Amino acid sequence: MSGRRPPVTIHFDNMVAGVLAGGGIDPARLFGGRSAVDAADTGGPAVAQGDLARRFHQAFEAVRSWREAGDLGFLDLPADRSLAARTREAADALGHRRFDDVVVIGIGGSALGAAALRDALLPPGWNELDDAARGQRPRLHVLDNPDPDSAGALLDRLDLGRTLFNVVSKSGSTAETLALFLTVWGRLEETVGPGRARDHVVVTTDARRGFLRGIAEEHGLRSLSVPGNVGGRFSVLSPVGLLPAALAGIDTEALLDGASSMAAQCETPILLQNPAGTLATLLHAADTDHGAGIHVFMPYADRLQGVARWLQQLWAESLGKARKLDGARAETGPTPLPALGAPDQHSLLQLLMEGPRDKVVVFLGRAAADRDVAIPSPFPDNAAVSHLAGCSLFELLDRERVATAEALRRAGRPNLTIMMDRVDVRSVGALLMLFQIATVHAGALYGVDPMDQPGVELGKSLTSGLMGKPGHQAPAIPSPDARWRV
Ligand code: PA5
Repeated sequence: MSGRRPPVTIHFDNMVAGVLAGGGIDPARLFGGRSAVDAADTGGPAVAQGDLARRFHQAFEAVRSWREAGDLGFLDLPADRSLAARTREAADALGHRRFDDVVVIGIGGSALGAAALRDALLPPGWNELDDAARGQRPRLHVLDNPDPDSAGALLDRLDLGRTLFNVVSKSGSTAETLALFLTVWGRLEETVGPGRARDHVVVTTDARRGFLRGIAEEHGLRSLSVPGNVGGRFSVLSPVGLLPAALAGIDTEALLDGASSMAAQCETPILLQNPAGTLATLLHAADTDHGAGIHVFMPYADRLQGVARWLQQLWAESLGKARKLDGARAETGPTPLPALGAPDQHSLLQLLMEGPRDKVVVFLGRAAADRDVAIPSPFPDNAAVSHLAGCSLFELLDRERVATAEALRRAGRPNLTIMMDRVDVRSVGALLMLFQIATVHAGALYGVDPMDQPGVELGKSLTSGLMGKPGHQAPAIPSPDARWRV
C-alpha cells in the first residue's frame, strides 16, 4: 500500500506568492533562484540550494535521530498491523450490537482524535440517525469536559445497560478523566448492579503504569495498551483512536493505509517532495521570518472541523515552549486557530485580509463531496440569484474557497491549500499523518521538543492542591478583586 500516491496534495503556490508579496522574501532564498513551480517540477537539486531547503535538511536530520532513538512511536503505528488487528478483535469481542451507545471518556489527545474520526468519517449527524441508518452500529459520544451540565445531561439520557464506556488516558492519572470514570462507575453500579459495571467499561491506557491500569487488573476490566513511545496527541492511530473508530464501523485498515502512504512520501529529505516538510518549513518561516505566527486552519467541509480542532492541540502543545532543546530560554511557538469555510468568511476574513500581517491561512479543500445538492431555479428572471441557480452547493462552497485564497493572495496575505481527493478514510488517514509528521519537523525547526508539555504541569499540580490530593499543598491564590463584581 505504501507505494500508492497519497490522496492528499498540497498547493503552496499561494503561500509562496503571498509570502513574496507580503513579506518581500527574495525567491532565491526560498528555492535556489527558481520559481516555486519550476522548483516543484524539477525536484531536488535546484531546491536543495535554497535557504529553506537547508533549514529543512537540518530539521529532517533531527527528526531522523529522534526516530532512531525510538521517540516517535506514532510513525510506526501504520505498519503495526498486529496492534490494529488486536484493536479490531477487541471491538468485535465487545460486540457492538450489545451497545447502542459508546462513550469515549478522555481529554486532550485522548479525546480529540476519536472526535475527529467520528466527525470526518461517519455520516453527518451520526448520533441522531436511527439504528438502521447506522447499520446497527452504536452512537459515538466523546465526553472530555467534566462540565456537570453537559456530562450530567448525557449520562441522564443514556440507557446505561446498553452503553459501553471507553476510558482513555495514556497516563491513567488525568483528573478530568478519572472524575468522569468514577461518576460513570458509580452510576453503573446503581443501574446494572455491582459486579456488572465492568462489562460496560473498556480501558485504553499505558501497559503497566497508572491508576487505570491498576483498576483494570484489579477488577478484570477489558483493556488495550497505548505503546509507551506514543504521546497522547500523537495517538490517534493507536487503540486510542482505532477502538472507537472500529466500534462505529470505520475501516481502520484503510485509515492506516492512507497514513502509511503519506508516511512513505515524507521519507525524503528533498524539501519540495516532502509534503510534511514543506508544510512545516513554510509555516515556520512565515512565523520566524515574517512575524506570521498565527496559523489559521480552515477546512471547507463541516466534517473536517474535528480535524482542525485536533490539529490545534497538536500544533499548540507540541510547539509552544519556554525552552529550546539546548535549554536556552525561547518562549516560542505559533498560535493555531481553527476556522471553517464558508462561515468564517463572514467572521474572520475581514481581519485576515486587512488586519495585522501576523497570520497564515491553511485551507483544507476536497476535489469532490460525498453528495451534492443542486440549487434549483425557482426565480429564473431574477438577476440577484440567477448565477446560483443551476449550480450546486458544493460548487458554490468550493469556488468560495478558491476565491478566498485568491483574495488573500492579491492582498499579499500568505496562504496555502491542502487538497484531498475527497473526505474518505484513506484521505483522512493521510491527512492525520501529514500533520503529525509536519509537527515534529516544525518542532525541529523551532528547536524545541515537540513531544513534551511541561507547561501544563503547574496548573495540574495547583488543581491537585485545591482538590486536596494527598501529597499536594493547598496553594495560596490571591482573592479576586471584589470591587468589580456586578
Ligand atoms: O498530548 C498530550 O499528551 C495531552 O494532551 C494528553 O493527551 C492529555 O493531557 C490527556 O492525558 P492522558 O491521556 O494521560 O489522560
